[in-house]
Amino acid sequence: MHSFRYVGDKLFCEGASIEALVKEHGSPLYVYSAATLTDHFSKLDSALAPLDHLVCYAMKANSNAAVIRLFANLGGGFDTVSAGELQRVIAAGGDAKKCVFAGVGKTEEEITFALKKGIYSFNVESEPELQRINRVAAKLKKVAPIAVRVNPNIDAGTHAKITTGTYENKFGIAFEEIEGVYARASKLKNIKLRGLQMHIGSQLTSVKPFEAAVKKVVPLVQKLSARYGFEFFSIGGGIGIVYNPALASADPAWWNTPEGKKILTPATYAATLVPLLQPLGLKILLEPGRFLVGNAGALVTRVEYVKKTGKKNFVIVDAAMNDLIRPAFYDSYHEIVPLKRNAKAPTISSDVVGPICESGDYFCKDRPLQKVGEGDTLALLSAGAYGSVMGSNYNTRGLATEVLVHGKKADVVRKRQKIADIWENEVVPGWLKKG
Ligand code: LLP
Repeated sequence: MHSFRYVGDKLFCEGASIEALVKEHGSPLYVYSAATLTDHFSKLDSALAPLDHLVCYAMKANSNAAVIRLFANLGGGFDTVSAGELQRVIAAGGDAKKCVFAGVGKTEEEITFALKKGIYSFNVESEPELQRINRVAAKLKKVAPIAVRVNPNIDAGTHAKITTGTYENKFGIAFEEIEGVYARASKLKNIKLRGLQMHIGSQLTSVKPFEAAVKKVVPLVQKLSARYGFEFFSIGGGIGIVYNPALASADPAWWNTPEGKKILTPATYAATLVPLLQPLGLKILLEPGRFLVGNAGALVTRVEYVKKTGKKNFVIVDAAMNDLIRPAFYDSYHEIVPLKRNAKAPTISSDVVGPICESGDYFCKDRPLQKVGEGDTLALLSAGAYGSVMGSNYNTRGLATEVLVHGKKADVVRKRQKIADIWENEVVPGWLKKG
């Protein structure tokens, strides 16, 4: 479901005019739709209803407290990757007992914190980590629940920077080594072998790689579960979304790619995977991030200048790569639409760029866009995942305001960062102050 659509010629998020939101809260502005967040969670949750399951939202995609609370209220758990994320869950009213803790570099302090909070499972990425968890648990006189992350060596065929399931990257333990790791782990006194975990990559738009990975790993889970008495199998995250064109909004066919191919829906995902997983009789965990929040957010930005150089038409906006780094980092596509549509305006091939002093600071290149001028506003769609969370203060730019729309209402869920707060932890040593 997509909640950004034109009402007349004005772009709305649910029942709220985005122009009005910009007037009230300024620009750049992240706008999220509670309806889409809820709808996507519920669709996935109900598609998996035949299984005992838990949707652990991969909060790295968007860790805003309001977003966490919304998913917690819907019964979700969380996939966390740092003590900071776990603290956020607790601060936002989520349940640590529904959290898994992933990541290749867990520190002793983080493990201690997670154990004290009683998390559901550590997703273990290496044997040294297993040893460390065992040691820390012994010190606390606790037993740590763990799942080893298996790397199934399946190429998810996504962007090189977000594929994780092959032996070419740092994640998980090779499929062939897993049995040996569990045998050794079973001898560790302060470790409880609760399950097995996998994750093959992000932004997968076909169910095929998931199917291949599940088919490969299920027999291993069966074998290990019989040996060690597992409770769960986590199949990770990675369900892709439509970035282009995302604005077929009201039309349910927005699931279609421009080539008319069906993209991955919760229904297709479940129809393929549920029958493969059901025979395990285990609890199935999922770790979706992007699917739950991606289409639920837009980054709204104001046009500052239009500059023509040579053949180029540069639309210079007030948002930049520090607000949304995905185009610069992954060359990723975000649909860009005007808040005020004008059928009579000419279409011009444009580069939408930010004010940061880097050529990489762009949102699109040579894209046909409605002619815009100073003071007009644009929305970059499908920016709800890996948008604000990857924001930075580069060029001493404050982090943008974020609002959550709920019907006709919108609440500020993150205040605009004050510029002086950016350097509040910086210190000029006394000896420099002389003279
Ligand atoms: N589980 C694990 C172990 C992961 O590493 C990730 C994402 C997820 C779950 C959630 O994946 P999702 O459902 O969101 O695809 N910044 C990149 C994406 C990085 C993904 C990192 N891991 C982007 O903007 O495309």
